[in-house]
Amino acid sequence: MKSILSGPRAIPLAGAIPLAGAILVGLAATAGAQMPMGEITGDAETGKQLYYDHACYGCHGYTGETGHQMKLVGSGFLLNEQTFIIYLRLRAEQNPILPSETMPNYPENALSDNEAKDLYAYIRTFADNAPPLEEIPTLNAIIESAAEPYSP
Ligand code: HEC
Repeated sequence: MKSILSGPRAIPLAGAIPLAGAILVGLAATAGAQMPMGEITGDAETGKQLYYDHACYGCHGYTGETGHQMKLVGSGFLLNEQTFIIYLRLRAEQNPILPSETMPNYPENALSDNEAKDLYAYIRTFADNAPPLEEIPTLNAIIESAAEPYSP
């Protein structure tokens, strides 16, 4: 994957990334606290296809909350289209403040801003349907038995 830090845009981007990262950290921390969600300008149907084409479901699940990786529902990075796009472009080695080895980077030549907005529209259709822990008896049984000392 081509680095967004290569080429003629290298210098401005290198300066912008720590700043954008700092803004994102702040937003992620406060977004849970009733900040109004931003406008949706993309097309959720197109976004659904992109969600499959770019294999987001592979790590985040088909509903954004059942994958083996980070839950998307309620994420502060989904506050608005801009925070989402910045997040997609600042992954892994490109991002010294929020480093990640596991979430791929999605530069503009892999996923355009308009496609990202469609994707955003689709992700915003996800609802938080996970039941509270106390209402999942099997999971509670697993947690209780895991707390017992191991005796082979
Ligand atoms: C290979 C696994 C993988 C794939 C594929 C993947 N992600 Fe992620 N994603 C992660 C992991 C792991 C995190 C947790 C934070 C991190 O490491 O950056 C994450 C975090 C996120 C977050 C921030 C959640 C939060 O609140 O911290 C968003 C938004 C997101 N991913 C969207 C997407 C979208 C959209 C796609 C598809 C274009 C995608 N991801 C594809 C693994 C993946």
